Amino acid sequence: MKGKILLVLLLFWPGVCPLSFQEVHVKSGEMAVLQCPSYREYSDGDAEVFWTSHTVDEMKLFNMSTSAEQRQMGVLVHGRILVILRASVNHQGNYSCSFRNSSRRSWINLRVYTVESKESGKMIQDSKTCYTDKSCTLYCHDENILFDTWNITRNSTTCHKEGEPSPKDGYFSSVKKEDSGIYTCTWSYLYDGQIYNMTSMVKLDVQPSEITKKAVIISPENSQEFDVDLDSTVVIDCKAVTSSDTDDLFWLSGDSFVETNSTLPVFYNYTWVNSTEEISMTASLVFRQVSEEDLSKNYTCKLQSDYETSFVTITLKQNDSTVVIDCKAVTSSDTDDLFWLSGDSFVETNSTLPVFYNYTWVNSTEEISMTASLVFRQVSEEDLSNNYTCKLQSDYETSFVTITLKQNEPFIPPVIILPKNKQEFEVDLDSTVVIDCKAVTSSDIDDLFWLSGDSFVETNSTLPVFYNYTW
Ligand SMILES: *[C@@H]1O[C@H](CO)[C@@H](O)[C@H](O)[C@H]1NC(C)=O
Ligand SMILES: *[C@@H]1O[C@H](CO)[C@@H](O)[C@H](O)[C@H]1NC(C)=O
Ligand SMILES: *[C@@H]1O[C@H](CO)[C@@H](O)[C@H](O)[C@H]1NC(C)=O
Ligand SMILES: *[C@@H]1O[C@H](CO)[C@@H](O)[C@H](O)[C@H]1NC(C)=O
Ligand SMILES: *[C@@H]1O[C@H](CO)[C@@H](O)[C@H](O)[C@H]1NC(C)=O
Ligand SMILES: *[C@@H]1O[C@H](CO)[C@@H](O)[C@H](O)[C@H]1NC(C)=O
Ligand SMILES: *[C@@H]1O[C@H](CO)[C@@H](O)[C@H](O)[C@H]1NC(C)=O
Ligand SMILES: *[C@@H]1O[C@H](CO)[C@@H](O)[C@H](O)[C@H]1NC(C)=O
Ligand SMILES: *[C@@H]1O[C@H](CO)[C@@H](O)[C@H](O)[C@H]1NC(C)=O
Ligand SMILES: *[C@@H]1O[C@H](CO)[C@@H](O)[C@H](O)[C@H]1NC(C)=O
Ligand SMILES: *[C@@H]1O[C@H](CO)[C@@H](O)[C@H](O)[C@H]1NC(C)=O
Ligand SMILES: *[C@@H]1O[C@H](CO)[C@@H](O)[C@H](O)[C@H]1NC(C)=O
Repeated sequence: MKGKILLVLLLFWPGVCPLSFQEVHVKSGEMAVLQCPSYREYSDGDAEVFWTSHTVDEMKLFNMSTSAEQRQMGVLVHGRILVILRASVNHQGNYSCSFRNSSRRSWINLRVYTVESKESGKMIQDSKTCYTDKSCTLYCHDENILFDTWNITRNSTTCHKEGEPSPKDGYFSSVKKEDSGIYTCTWSYLYDGQIYNMTSMVKLDVQPSEITKKAVIISPENSQEFDVDLDSTVVIDCKAVTSSDTDDLFWLSGDSFVETNSTLPVFYNYTWVNSTEEISMTASLVFRQVSEEDLSKNYTCKLQSDYETSFVTITLKQNDSTVVIDCKAVTSSDTDDLFWLSGDSFVETNSTLPVFYNYTWVNSTEEISMTASLVFRQVSEEDLSNNYTCKLQSDYETSFVTITLKQNEPFIPPVIILPKNKQEFEVDLDSTVVIDCKAVTSSDIDDLFWLSGDSFVETNSTLPVFYNYTW
């Protein structure tokens, strides 16, 4: 009790360095190594150190020379180091050490756990983060200090994770997500003909590699304009690909968040497809009925990611969907006639109608050039299902052409998702390296290929550098 009060006082005594207080966690039955922290003025490893144990049922003083009694108790003391060969719960408690001629006392708290103990997780001394598909080495903590001091030799080491053996020397050539977990390394030491064990635990966390981390909006394009008709329903899909399911994709109207409440005139809905490699997200901005006001605003689709935040801003533009189809003919007679039919009916020339045609001609000495322009003020679904015929009625010969209208495919601009421009890849000499270039496009005539400098890389897989292609 007195000792503890003293400790608190010293902590706040001006001019006195703070005391150190360490914790050491060991498994019951195994070897415990306590090291008295050294200070500059006592850096000599062999300096005389006084050790005191303050355990539950005993208070003992250990000095430098390992006496027969200490040896029998399985305790070795040498300078700054105190070793308990087989720690038991009785050894649990506080230990203190001080250097000769120094009033400074350091404290070490020894905790002894049984294997089943929930607290045994505190024995984890290290954690290491590695990245998927990269090499990774796990280092287990080793009390190699023992070799210098005593005739203790390291006998063997084993490392394993919950029953599964770990690779040799803790080296993974290509680490996987499933390799994450807690690894237990058992060191066996030979001393005086006996084997003593020490366990250390290290936690391995395998993260997606930086290379596969991505967060990119595929469509629409920034500043893209969408042609819309007033009063029509318009859906604008914002598509993104990411590697993290904590990423968020949403729409802003100006600076305000668009809501997902589908009873509102403008809202968005959200879907995602989860695969092992990436998550495809779509946030669809829906205008129930496009208004004049909607045309005056900017809409931003934002991808919020820990890795990289990106956005695209789009605007709506009123459709100038007038479609004009010119039919040109050349004749020698000015009594010839050029006109349009919709199915079997004549198209009129009245320009207030939604579909009409107008007519011009150029008279030269040799021939007459005629143009009949079929005009759709705004193409309707019905127009798409009709056949239109341009007919040249002539005394000499009657001819005609028939056409149909076809709706444009929506255009998704092609984009390279991986790798990033100017990305550096760390490689080992003489190793095989594969670098994936991924792209998304809406056209199957688009081409994805590699260049080395200005030269094309070939696909011949017998070459030292080549590429292959999947889609
Ligand atoms: C180590 O072993 C050698 C030879 O057996 C012996 O002479 C020496 O005293 C031992 N040292 C210690 C620290 O036990
Ligand atoms: C470990 O110790 C045992 C028993 O003394 C011995 O048979 C074995 O060869 C030693 N192994 C190593 C790697 O030193
Ligand atoms: C020491 O560890 C080895 C390997 O894990 C094990 O076979 C042996 O039983 C352990 N010995 C003691 C005394 O715990
Ligand atoms: C959605 O919006 C409507 C109309 O503004 C409102 O009545 C309703 O409570 C909203 N629903 C939710 C789930 O917010
Ligand atoms: C979003 O809502 C619109 C209108 O209700 C619907 O047409 C569209 O399919 C929905 N999109 C998704 C991705 O759920
Ligand atoms: C995606 O899949 C992973 C692995 O199956 C899962 O952990 C994650 O919760 C899923 N995310 C979503 C948004 O469904
Ligand atoms: C929309 O964005 C453009 C370009 O950034 C900007 O010039 C314009 O003022 C914005 N309009 C509104 C209504 O925010
Ligand atoms: C053109 O069509 C409009 C509406 O159908 C009609 O009111 C007008 O009289 C027509 N004009 C001519 C010159 O036929
Ligand atoms: C026919 O009318 C359309 C729309 O009014 C106009 O753009 C076009 O120039 C006209 N063509 C001719 C040949 O007069
Ligand atoms: C075209 O030119 C010829 C010869 O000059 C003339 O007789 C004819 O009337 C002209 N036709 C038209 C449609 O102007
Ligand atoms: C348009 O033409 C195609 C081919 O000649 C024919 O199969 C189709 O029935 C026609 N459609 C209409 C609406 O006349
Ligand atoms: C691939 O390259 C090897 C070695 O340069 C060559 O012998 C072979 O003919 C090539 N194959 C093709 C299909 O070009």
